[in-house]
Amino acid sequence: METALSALGQRTAPPAISWLMKTALSRPKLISLAAGFTDNASLPVDISRQLLNGILRSPKTGQPALQYGTTAGEPQLRELTAAHLQQLDGGSDRAHSAERVLITGGSQQLLYMTLEALCDEGDIVIVEDPTYFVFLSILQSRGIRARGVKLTRDGLDLVQLEKILTQLKNSGELRRVKALYLVTYFQNPTGVTTSFAKKRAALRLLKKFERAAGHPLYLIEDAAYRELRFDGGVDVPTALTLPGARHRVIYAGTYSKPFATGARVGFGILPEPVYTAVLRIKGNHDFGTANLLQALLTRALASGDYDQQVAKAQKNYARKARVMKQALAKHFPACVEIWESGGGLYFWARLPAGISCGVNSEIFRAALKHDVLYVPGELCYAADTARRAPDNELRISFGSASETNLREGVKRLGAVLRKFLK
Ligand SMILES: Cc1ncc(COP(=O)(O)O)c(C=O)c1O
Repeated sequence: METALSALGQRTAPPAISWLMKTALSRPKLISLAAGFTDNASLPVDISRQLLNGILRSPKTGQPALQYGTTAGEPQLRELTAAHLQQLDGGSDRAHSAERVLITGGSQQLLYMTLEALCDEGDIVIVEDPTYFVFLSILQSRGIRARGVKLTRDGLDLVQLEKILTQLKNSGELRRVKALYLVTYFQNPTGVTTSFAKKRAALRLLKKFERAAGHPLYLIEDAAYRELRFDGGVDVPTALTLPGARHRVIYAGTYSKPFATGARVGFGILPEPVYTAVLRIKGNHDFGTANLLQALLTRALASGDYDQQVAKAQKNYARKARVMKQALAKHFPACVEIWESGGGLYFWARLPAGISCGVNSEIFRAALKHDVLYVPGELCYAADTARRAPDNELRISFGSASETNLREGVKRLGAVLRKFLK
């Protein structure tokens, strides 16, 4: 008998994230430096209880929160989100107006719907090499092709971006390109923050190639980790503040990482006609993000509790990153290149060329045997046949493991690496 599954149903590969989570859960003694989870200890339990009590104290505030809402999201939360971004970006109000804000079930939903709105099977999205592996899973599932642009310490390699756009133009495939996807703050997986100059140059390059593409080329800016800056440095403004951004930049933001991952409220700022298309698609997905959770975030932002929570989380991750840094210095062989980050949840490590730590490598197996898990960097590279993806890198997170487990996990991993990197 033939399958009843759609082409998408048949094509969708098991996401790497499910496999990593299953591996972690099936081994109780395992220390996971792989999870992109936030730190349980820093989640806002007391704040959320007080805010939810406030919402549910009276029918006047409780009933609307327990009722369906609108597809675009609670008007007050959209206003507060626009104001919050405006504050982070220091002005530039038109780029952040509430009418362009869409509240979503995490920024993941926004990313998925944006790709649904922009891309048909066979279309192309340009991504960073490496990038957020769940985004790559969406591309795989939807039959969207990816081209990877090398990432350097301050963002993507612009020379390579131009080269790829030129190649695509010459091969007649530029009309299949729809967007460039950048994770611009403390990137998952490398911890890299894209400089404002690079955002500007990337947007200019996209504009330059639009005539040959025959349609707009969008810059999708994923700012998931923006507010988890803990190095005391200055925030980089978004691409939304650039000239021409109003019509070309799609901003994906989230309250997951800075407030509560379990509340899973995200948002997008989108230009027309993408905004309307995504809004209609969301109408079919869920016709609105959970109202109770939106009410929680609305109260947190309006009361100032949100800002307090972010400050607390930043302090916590600063400490945990320091613990990881010290442990890496103590236990990792000196030949391993470490990319530290001033925010987010991850460090990136590169082994000498030719030494694999990929999913099928001896190092990965030995690490599992010693009860420590990391994300093999190769999972973060798009299926782009134009280049060979490296397999000598790994992502290690200081997000969810306790400080004791961070020390112990890095120690175990260091011992494995020392065995293979004599
Ligand atoms: C780069 C990046 N973007 C988006 C997301 C999605 O987060 P959420 O859906 O919780 O907003 C994540 C989650 O790990 C991420 O790492």
